[in-house]
Amino acid sequence: MNIPTSSMVTETPGALIASHSHIRGLGVDLDTLTPRFSSQGLVGQERARKAAALIIKMVEERKIAGRAILIAGPPSTGKTAIAMGMAQTLGSEVPFVTMSGSEIYSKEISKTEALTQAFRKGVAVRVSEETEFIEGEVVEIQLDKSVTQANRQGRIIMKTNDMESAFNLGPKLIDSLEKEHVIAGDIISVNMSSNRIVKLGRSYARSRDYDAMGKDTKFVTCPDGELRKRKEETHVVSLHEIDVINSRPQGYMGLFSGDTGEIPSETRDQINVKVDEWKEEGKAELLPGVLFIDEVHMLDVEAFSFMNKWTETELSPIIIMASNRGNATVRGTPSKAPHGMPLDFLDRCVIISTHPYNAHELQEILKIRAAEEEVELNEGAIALLTRVAEERGLRYGSQLIATSYEVAKKRKGGEGKVEERDVERAYGLFLDPKRSVELVAELQGERMELS
Ligand SMILES: Nc1ncnc2c1ncn2[C@@H]1O[C@H](COP(=O)(O)OP(=O)(O)OP(=O)(O)O)[C@@H](O)[C@H]1O
Ligand SMILES: [Mg+2]
Repeated sequence: MNIPTSSMVTETPGALIASHSHIRGLGVDLDTLTPRFSSQGLVGQERARKAAALIIKMVEERKIAGRAILIAGPPSTGKTAIAMGMAQTLGSEVPFVTMSGSEIYSKEISKTEALTQAFRKGVAVRVSEETEFIEGEVVEIQLDKSVTQANRQGRIIMKTNDMESAFNLGPKLIDSLEKEHVIAGDIISVNMSSNRIVKLGRSYARSRDYDAMGKDTKFVTCPDGELRKRKEETHVVSLHEIDVINSRPQGYMGLFSGDTGEIPSETRDQINVKVDEWKEEGKAELLPGVLFIDEVHMLDVEAFSFMNKWTETELSPIIIMASNRGNATVRGTPSKAPHGMPLDFLDRCVIISTHPYNAHELQEILKIRAAEEEVELNEGAIALLTRVAEERGLRYGSQLIATSYEVAKKRKGGEGKVEERDVERAYGLFLDPKRSVELVAELQGERMELS
C-alpha cells in the first residue's frame, strides 16, 4: 500500500475565496467561548459565532460524531463567512473541505462518488513511519563525468565527529544535492526512503570560509555519533489521497489534475482495512475533519440518504451545511421541507441560525472589506455604503466598494479616495438584485405590449 508523502498533497485546507479573504478566524476566545464584537474579520452575529466555536472545540476533542450542523439564515448574513472562520480556527492538520451542493452534478463521476470523495477528503490519517536518515557534514562530493544526465552517478563522503564514510549517489540524489546547492562543509540530512535532502546549515568549522557564505547562512555544529540514524517521521494525508494513489498506476497524477475518475469500492475497502490495521499497531491515527457543504438545498433526496448512512460510520467527517432557504422543495421529491432537507436528515442536525445585521454591524463589515481591498473611504462614502447595504443587501454594498474606487480613480482630483458622489455614480452604473427584478418586470411588460 502506498502512502502519499506531504509533497504530493495538493489542497491547502482552508484556502479562502476572495470575498471572505478578510476572515482570519471566529473572533471568539476559545477558553471562555466569548465572542468579541469585531475580531479576526468577523463582526456581530455573536450567538452563531459562539455556537460555531463550541462546535470547533467538540471537533477537536472528538466529542461530536454522527452529527451534522446546519447554519441557516437569510442571504448575506454571514453563513459562509462563519464557516470560513471555523476553517481558519481548526489546526492545520485537521482537514476542512469545502464544496457547494451543486458540485455533485457537475462532475464526470456519479453523485455518490463525488460525495464519497468529499467525505474521504474530510478525514485525515496521521501516519508515523520509521525512516532512515544519513545526517552529517559533507566532506566531498565526487561526480563521475562520462555518463549521460539520466545515469549520473557519484559518491559523497560524509562525516560526524566520530566517523567518516562514503555513500554511492544515484541520479535522484545528485539532483537533490544540486537543487539544494549542497557543497563541502554543509551539514545535511538525507532521507533514504524519499531521497529528499535538507540542508541544516554550515559547519562551524567552516565559519571562516567566506566564499561559501550568504548573509543568512546558518551555522550548526557537526553532529556526534553514527551517520545513519532512524527517526520517526509523521505525515498527514487524507483518506482520499490514499485512495487516489492506490487506485491506479501513476494514481498520484490524479491528485494534481483533480481528475481521479471513479475509485473502485474494493480499493476503498482494502484501504479501510489497512488503516484499521495501522491504527491497531499504533502506526496511524484518524483525524476526522470537517466537510462544509454550502447551498445544501441543492442536494437531492438520494444524496441526503447517502449522507445519512455515512454520518453513522467512524470514517465520517463532521458535516457543516449552510442554507438560506426556508420551506423549499426537496430535490428529487414533490414535497417541501424546511431548508429543502428531508426530515430524517434534518433530525440529526444541530441548527445554528444567523440574523440580518443592524446598521452599526454593516458599517463595521464594510470598513473591514474596504481595508482588505486597500480602498480609502471618506465618512460620507461609508455612510452611504452602509445605507445601501441596509436597503439592498450587504453583498451588493460590499461589491460597490471596488466599483466606487474605480470611479474615484477616474474623477479629476479624486486621487483614488472614495467620496459619497463616487458611491452614487457606481450605484447608478450597477443594479442590485431588487432593481434588477423591477427591471425584468418592466421589460416583460413592454414585451407583452409589443406582442
Ligand atoms: N459577520 C460578518 N463579519 C464580517 N464579514 C461578514 C460577516 N457576515 C458576512 N460577511 C461578509 O459579507 C459577505 C456576504 O456574506 P456571506 O457570503 O457569508 O453570506 P451568506 O449568509 O453565506 O449568504 P448566502 O445565503 O447568499 O450564501 C461576504 O463577503 C462575507 O465575508
Ligand atoms: Mg453563502
